[in-house]
Amino acid sequence: MATEYDFLKACWGQPVDRIPVWLMRQAGRYLPQYREVRSRGEGTFLDLCKDPERAAEVTIQPIDILDADAAILFSDILTPIEPMGMDLDFNPGPVFANPIRTQADVDKLIVPENMAEAVSYVPAIIKRLRTAFEGRVPLIGFGGAPFTLACYMVEGKGSKDFAALKQMMYGDPSLYHALMEKITEMDRRYLNMQIEAGAQAIQIFDTWGGLVAPHDFEKFVLPYTKKLIAGLNRKDIPVIYFVKNSGTMLELVKEAGSDVIGLDWHVNLGKARDILGEDVAVQGNLDPTVLFAPKPYIEKEVQRILDENAGRPGFIFNLGHGIMPTVPPENAIFMVDAVHRLSQK
Ligand code: CP3
Repeated sequence: MATEYDFLKACWGQPVDRIPVWLMRQAGRYLPQYREVRSRGEGTFLDLCKDPERAAEVTIQPIDILDADAAILFSDILTPIEPMGMDLDFNPGPVFANPIRTQADVDKLIVPENMAEAVSYVPAIIKRLRTAFEGRVPLIGFGGAPFTLACYMVEGKGSKDFAALKQMMYGDPSLYHALMEKITEMDRRYLNMQIEAGAQAIQIFDTWGGLVAPHDFEKFVLPYTKKLIAGLNRKDIPVIYFVKNSGTMLELVKEAGSDVIGLDWHVNLGKARDILGEDVAVQGNLDPTVLFAPKPYIEKEVQRILDENAGRPGFIFNLGHGIMPTVPPENAIFMVDAVHRLSQK
């Protein structure tokens, strides 16, 4: 697949002149410029997500400031859950006032026919960004994996172990599966809508997919991500699947069928690539807290990861999870530059 962007070339395993890099959660509170836009007006975080002009502005910030090789749509994995009929708030973490616990709750969930209407601000932001970038960087669209979305919908908020979801999964598997079917279909429509609107790659975030044992991942998590990916109108759109804490079950993660696999920092990137094989690209995997270290240490860590990759094609540099809100921006800028500098052919 011919493309001029290093990021997309790397997704397809093609050679690049230097390793492309972007940061998960690269638009956010660590940037004073984000905080400025966020505080403009009286709006909440959700208001910002729903304002195409300001949402596009904060998507562009890390491209200008960090020189990242790809932009990611500014939104949240939970925004498409609102039109399913759930009241969503951020405080600052997500809160659903009425979590899903019963068959009646699942039955009430709406799977909107037309996601472009249900979350009309999302295609509006995507179109605005494609025009603004004019070929400068590719735009990544994204969604939560069905399992991670279910974690929040059933728990009603963030959690360390999402015990309420697991209770449903083990105690009432048919209820769990009915819920997952609805979420997966919503997600399929949502991501296809983003592709239709102009997203040039799709990342699926499975932040909590590693909370389960491998045999449970195979039974309760994987079938839905697999179905989701199989249902995307991918054409030439690469799909990235990031499952945090999945280092002990990479073969299963690969079975989902993505073009790129996101890795966290608990795995050695080279060993992970040996397990995954040559037909899939990888993205990762710097420990996000390394961005608090002195610059020479950051540079050493970037070099270590480049060495672990050992020149194999199909590599995108990223953090192993989202950037933290207290990271000094200059360290993030330094990291991106180090990747470019140290990998330049
Ligand atoms: O720059 C980007 O990456 C695009 C924007 C983006 C946000 N959330 C904005 C956001 C993306 C890709 C996400 C994904 C997301 N959201 C995930 C998966 C990735 C991950 O980090 O694990 C998850 C689990 C969520 C749910 C969520 N949203 C949580 C747990 C929180 C609270 C924690 C926090 O960072 O505050 C949010 C809020 C949120 N989403 C903020 C941002 C910029 C902070 C809100 C604010 O500005 O006050």
